[in-house]
Formats: sequence, structure tokens, C-alpha cells
Amino acid sequence: MSRVRLHDKEFEPFIPVAEMEAAIQQVAQDITRKYADKRPLFLGVLNGSFFFAAELLKRLPIECEISFVKVASYHGTRSTGTVSQLIGLNEKIEGRHVVVLEDIVDTGHTIRHIMDILAERHPASISIATLLFKPDAYKQDITIDHVALRIPNAFVVGSGLDHDGLGRNLPGIFKIVEG
Ligand code: IMP
Repeated sequence: MSRVRLHDKEFEPFIPVAEMEAAIQQVAQDITRKYADKRPLFLGVLNGSFFFAAELLKRLPIECEISFVKVASYHGTRSTGTVSQLIGLNEKIEGRHVVVLEDIVDTGHTIRHIMDILAERHPASISIATLLFKPDAYKQDITIDHVALRIPNAFVVGSGLDHDGLGRNLPGIFKIVEG
């Protein structure tokens, strides 16, 4: 694999496909053990999670459901500040074992909003599974239950992650070339 250019930025190969697949397999085993009799509802956060969702679910030999949601943020009143909404959440969450699927958890702001919205709907449990996690950038105290790969605080693309719309289709993970 060689470098790729997306818009104005250059990216170099960082995590090869085989390493990523092994990491996803490990998460699949953990989730299989934890949710075997619970018929979990996976909620993939679009756009980026489509790849991780597919790769994870094909490795789960358990009864489960999946749906996809999108986070929309808009400015509310001065007192409410930025308000987030989950678009496409039509499933009944109450009493379900929900697993949120993310492509990447960076500062954690997005996952914080999602967890707040879901908690209001009284699920039996909620956990988070993410393809990538940047521990050095993370600013929340919510536990990220299932992490496929921990990466340093650098901008990456590939396997669902984009730079301004491009790069989601790249196999494996590519890291930005600085300078
Ligand atoms: P948060 O900071 O955890 O709320 O992450 C916000 C969003 O920023 C993620 O869902 C991604 O869409 C995007 N993001 C964060 N880091 C990266 C990256 O390295 N590459 C591509 N997108 C990223």
C-alpha cells in the first residue's frame, strides 16, 4: 500500500487490514460471550460506522438486531446551547440491551450526547463498541466497553472514516502525513 492524497492532505498506511480484522474478531468474541442470550440491539452511528458494523456483525453467531442512527446537532436557545438529536431511532429502546457502534471515539462529545439521549429511553443496558479509540484525546468519563484498536492522537481515514467526504473506502487505516 502506498500513500494516498485526499483533497489537500496526504495519508500513509498505518494499520493493515489483517491487523484490523484480528482486532474486530476479538471484539466479536467478547460481545458474543456477553450478549449470547440477550438479543442485543446494535445502533450504528452513521456515516462512519457502516464498515465496522458489517465487519462486526458477520462475526457474531448470536441472535441480534441492527439499526442505524445519525446525530444531528443544532443551536437551541441560549439556555440549552447546542442540542443533539438522534435521527432514525424508530426502535423501542426500553428494556433492550443496546450496543452503540462507532467508527471512532475522539474527544467523546458525540458519544456523550448519544448516551444521554438513549438513557432517557430506559434501556436494560447500554454499552459502546468502537473500531478506533484515541485515549489521549478522550475527555469524558464514560467507559468505552469494547475497543478494537487504540490509536495515538492523529487524524486517520479509511474503513468508514473520512476526510471531508473522501477516504471511507480505503482498506485498513491511513494516517495523515504532517508537514
Ligand atoms: P468526538 O470528538 O469523539 O465527538 O468525535 C467526533 C467525530 O469526529 C467522530 O465521530 C468522527 O466522525 C470525527 N473524527 C474524530 N477523529 C477523526 C479522525 O481521526 N478521522 C476522521 N474522523 C474523525
